[in-house]
Amino acid sequence: MSPHMHEVRTVGVVGCGLMGSGIAELCARRGLDTLVYEVNALAVESGRAKIESSLARAVERGKLTVADRAAALKRVAFTTDFADFADRDLAIEAVPEDEDLKLRVFEELDDALIRPDALLASNTSSIPIMKLAAATKRPGQVVGLHFFNPVPVLDLVELVPSLVIADSAWERIRAFAADTLGRHVIVSQDRAGFVVNSLLIPYIVSAIRMLESGFAVAHDIDAGMVRGCAHPMGPLRLADHIGLDTTLAVAESLYAEYREPHLAPPALLSRMVQAGHLGRKAGVGFYKYSAGTAI
Ligand code: 3HC
Repeated sequence: MSPHMHEVRTVGVVGCGLMGSGIAELCARRGLDTLVYEVNALAVESGRAKIESSLARAVERGKLTVADRAAALKRVAFTTDFADFADRDLAIEAVPEDEDLKLRVFEELDDALIRPDALLASNTSSIPIMKLAAATKRPGQVVGLHFFNPVPVLDLVELVPSLVIADSAWERIRAFAADTLGRHVIVSQDRAGFVVNSLLIPYIVSAIRMLESGFAVAHDIDAGMVRGCAHPMGPLRLADHIGLDTTLAVAESLYAEYREPHLAPPALLSRMVQAGHLGRKAGVGFYKYSAGTAI
């Protein structure tokens, strides 16, 4: 990064669900002043609990000392008011994959961020970065910053520039992702699914179609990929882990962009989302879960 450029030291994370809590935890562990926005006090408490339990797991696993956990927790603050983002160098949006919601959040963040060089990033897995950038008065400072779940464990970040990104913004976000967060960075054009989901979601969709058609049962489909190909999880358990709502949103965006029949979301996936069977976070998806564990 050029020496005259302002390094990102203060971060705001919008949304403290599955991804937002992991992103906030990572930022705090990497020494950043981290402010997390949630919609109300209940959502704040649930987000805080996610961060605390993941930090406790990191200590149990010997990945973090007790002192470093305490220091990380001290660096995280919560708010229910976007106005508190005024002093942030960077805001990272991690709300659910709903285009109208994300556009609204981007407009509000744009107004709340006062620093003229503040960056605005989205963890979206399916919405064009250009669309989000166009909703702001600083389109050159908007970028895709896509993390992988569990964020504290998986060290990849996809960086996605829009057609109008400013060179200085690109340089700062790259330095932030690679040096400050210590993530391996890959760059993708602003295309539906970016690199990873363009490969992963069609695979998961194929597994769901296989289950739907009676080709094989869930445990056998998953065992095939875990035991036969050494994947850490089979495709159906992975869909539960990602969240079936997010899996559906990404499949819909891939289909909308490429119109390939094999990308069309299977009816079973849509029905499960409509039923609220969203996977691990809901306690039921392709499998049933108790306190976060498959049973
Ligand atoms: N902080 C730091 N490290 C942690 C941690 C924490 N809070 N919690 C666990 N770990 C470490 C453990 O110490 C262990 O490290 P080791 O291998 O060096 O011993 C490692 O993480 C694995 O932890 P566990 O032993 O607790 O768990 P499992 O071995 O059961 O693995 C899993 C769980 C990491 C989820 C693994 O099954 C996995 O990687 N699955 C695939 C996940 C995947 O593909 N994610 C990407 C989804 S796509 C996405 O997110 C994009 C979106 O847009 C759709």
